[in-house]
Amino acid sequence: MTPWQSADRPRARVGRAIEVHDSIPSTNDRARELIAAGIIGRAVVAEVQTAGRGRRGRTWASPPGANLTLSIGIDLGIRARDAWQLAAAAGLAVRDACLAVAPLGLKWPNDIVSAEGHKVGGVLIETSIDGEVVTSAVIGIGLNVNWPRSEMPDEIRDHATSLAELNGRPIARETLLADLLDALDREVVAMEGGRSPLDRYRAACTTLGAEIEVDTGDRRVVGRAIDLDAGGALVVESGGRRERLASGEIVRLRAVTAA
Ligand code: BTN
Repeated sequence: MTPWQSADRPRARVGRAIEVHDSIPSTNDRARELIAAGIIGRAVVAEVQTAGRGRRGRTWASPPGANLTLSIGIDLGIRARDAWQLAAAAGLAVRDACLAVAPLGLKWPNDIVSAEGHKVGGVLIETSIDGEVVTSAVIGIGLNVNWPRSEMPDEIRDHATSLAELNGRPIARETLLADLLDALDREVVAMEGGRSPLDRYRAACTTLGAEIEVDTGDRRVVGRAIDLDAGGALVVESGGRRERLASGEIVRLRAVTAA
C-alpha cells in the first residue's frame, strides 16, 4: 500500500479507488479509458503528465512530486444544459478542500485563485453527451501544492502560486487528496440530487464586481461582472447593456473597491 491509498474511499461515488502513475500522458485520458472499461469513480493520480492539458487547448505544467494532478471518471444522468454545474461543483470542492490551508476563491469559470488573484489550480471537465443528457464525465484537477514560485516557468510565475507558498509550509498531498475526494463526492451527490451549486459558486466567485476583459474565442468583452445567471453564464454589464457569456477566458481583471 502506498501513502496515496490512504485517500481511498471504497464506498464513495468519487474516489472509490486510487490508481497512481509515475508518468502518463494525461490522467483525463486514462480516466476516459476506465469509463470505457466500466470502471467509474476511480481517482487516477499522476506524478508526471507528458501531455497534461488545460482548458482552451493549453498545456498543464506540473513538476514531479510537488503537486496534485488527478482525474476521476463518473457516470452521470444530468441534463446537458446543467453540465456547467459539474465544473462549478468541482471548483467548489477543490476550494473547500484547501480552505484549511489557504483562503481561496473561484475565478470564473472555474480557476481556483488566491486572494491576490494568483492561480492555484484549475479544473478540466470532459463530458460524453447522448442527446440532451450527460452520460459520463471526466473531472480533471490540477492543483499547485508544493511548487515554489521561484521554480515556476516565467510564463506561469507572474499569475500563479501554490498552497505551500500561501501557507508558508509544505502541505501533505495525501491528506489533501483525501479531503479533495471527500469534498468532490459530497458535491457530485448533491448535484445529482438536484441541489444546484449556484448560490455557493456565486459566494465564492471573486470575479463578481470586478472590471474584466473576457476573450470569448471570437471577440473581447469589456465591462463589469455583475452576476452569474441560473445557467452558470457570467453576466457582464458594459455601457448600459448586459451580456451573458456562457464560456470564455478572463484576460484582464481589476477588482473595484468602494471609495
Ligand atoms: C485549466 O486550464 O485551468 C484546467 C487544468 C486542468 C489540469 C488537469 S491536471 C489533471 C488532468 N489531466 C489533464 O490532462 N488535465 C487535467
